[in-house]
Amino acid sequence: MTDRVLMPAPPTDSFERKIDYLRLSVTDRCNLRCTYCMPEDGLPKLDHRDILRYEEFLTLAEIVTGMGISKIRITGGEPLVRKNILTLCKNISQLPGLKSLSITTNGVLLSQFAQGLLETGIKRINISLDTLKREKFAALTRQDLFPQVWEGIQTAFTAGLSPIKLNTVVLRGTNDDEIEDLARLTFRYPFHVRFIEFMPFQQRDYDRQFVPAAEILQRLKRVAPLARSDKDESNGPALYYRYESAPGRIGIISPVSGHFCPACNRLRITADGKLRTCLFSRDETDLRQALRQGASQDRIEEIIRFAITLKPEKHELNSHIFRKCISRPMFSIGG
Ligand code: 5AD
Ligand code: SF4
Repeated sequence: MTDRVLMPAPPTDSFERKIDYLRLSVTDRCNLRCTYCMPEDGLPKLDHRDILRYEEFLTLAEIVTGMGISKIRITGGEPLVRKNILTLCKNISQLPGLKSLSITTNGVLLSQFAQGLLETGIKRINISLDTLKREKFAALTRQDLFPQVWEGIQTAFTAGLSPIKLNTVVLRGTNDDEIEDLARLTFRYPFHVRFIEFMPFQQRDYDRQFVPAAEILQRLKRVAPLARSDKDESNGPALYYRYESAPGRIGIISPVSGHFCPACNRLRITADGKLRTCLFSRDETDLRQALRQGASQDRIEEIIRFAITLKPEKHELNSHIFRKCISRPMFSIGG
């Protein structure tokens, strides 16, 4: 990652938001089957011809970093199941203009990949962790892999990946009784433990499972007094808190009850090369087609810039109509 003085300023959208962050989903495959994300036998997967090739991901990364988009996060599905993921990370991290490369993983393969990730230039890592209990983990993800994930987290920590952010989706009746225990990890480790409101992606029984951020906060205050804390430098959507004397941080992300849209700085590209300017919008721009029809890099940049001008101002997550119209499940958008 080079800090070039001459890189262009990032593009802005129609609401004067600076767009400097891309989430790049490199696969729609996953080695877990979280009940809230996937049906047990999985969902129809993309044909592998429809998934972008390695060089195509790299070309897109090169185009966006050339536009001043300086932060990229690699997501999935589960990105560590993608072949040659470390080489892809390494090549992306060497692009001029890239200031930060990070990854979001479920941790299953982390003990074998942590050191390699660090060597590609990645430091920042988000790990999804909804429970600290082995049986519950097995029920929730349909795989008995909690020990492996916990070992992965420890390996990442020892290897020096930092910050380590643990992301917990809070589900009433499933893991809301563990909010306090997960938060207590911040006394032992410098991790950022972040609680995420459950978002409505075609789940049955959504309303019963949803726990609002205000309630999460109340529970967190039962552990010890909580003070507001600064965000870290990544302009993310979490509100940060800390317990006095704890090395770690607590984050609360409220996509449903709160509004982080005014601060949204991100774009997404799905594994099949669709550009999405909003997680919650159905609009997609087909970059794969442009790439495969031989469009020049300048032309693709133009297409991306145009899509940015159409980025919606905010989502309608609470509207009834909206709940019916989410087009893709999370594993295929990349979180
Ligand atoms: N609401 C909130 N987060 C979700 N994730 C998947 N589905 C949902 C949902 N409905 C999270 C996963 C993981 C990331 C990829 O997205 O738990 O942390
Ligand atoms: Fe679970 Fe994430 Fe995999 Fe979905 S993509 S099954 S939430 S680990």
